[in-house]
Amino acid sequence: KLEAVLFDLDGVIVDTAKHHYRAWKELANELGFDFTEEDNERLKGVSRVESLNILLEIGQVEKTEKEKEELAARKNQRYVEAISTMDESEILPGVIDFLQELKNENVPFALGSASKNAPAILKHIKLFDAFDAIVDGNSIAKAKPDPEVFLQGADKLGANYENCVVFEDAQSGIEAGKAAGMYVVGVGSADVLKGADDYITHMTEMNVERIRRK
Ligand code: BG6
Ligand code: MG
Repeated sequence: KLEAVLFDLDGVIVDTAKHHYRAWKELANELGFDFTEEDNERLKGVSRVESLNILLEIGQVEKTEKEKEELAARKNQRYVEAISTMDESEILPGVIDFLQELKNENVPFALGSASKNAPAILKHIKLFDAFDAIVDGNSIAKAKPDPEVFLQGADKLGANYENCVVFEDAQSGIEAGKAAGMYVVGVGSADVLKGADDYITHMTEMNVERIRRK
């Protein structure tokens, strides 16, 4: 049975990973080390604070809590600037059609994102009102891979966890969805993402029938 769908934002609805990557790389360079795209894979789905900790670990740099606050704020400032010019054209292929199909079939859907910038991004790409509920980095206490973000989303939609489908492009997010007892579709390659129930590379491959048959 299919009761509700939960979408991650970054890398599923819109390709913001490149903006996050650029902002973290600049910060790393300022701190005197490099930060590769492979390193960036580890930050996907991970909260801002935790991302900074991983970055500093990669660069083997130690900072005080106060310095970390400043660094996280500096990164976010750059990121906010980068996303400020986003518009609907940056919505990933197949997303609009799939959301429309869910609406036509009366399947409610919510956002389940780790990002505190999620509401702003949704407004930029004009999808803020499309979602039946929004759970983001501002409303959760425990970051992915903790299931909290998806459990809250399902609760807001009044759906049973086992009848929810999660779309995720990050390892931490797939683990969060599975920990929530949900069916998880990995958006990306099965070689990189482990443990999802199904995989797609683009939302264009998805339709309601495919997740109803799950
Ligand atoms: C996730 C991204 O959606 O949000 C992570 O995949 C990011 O890369 C996290 O660190 C937190 O985002 P923000 O916007 O609150 O810094
Ligand atoms: Mg993501």
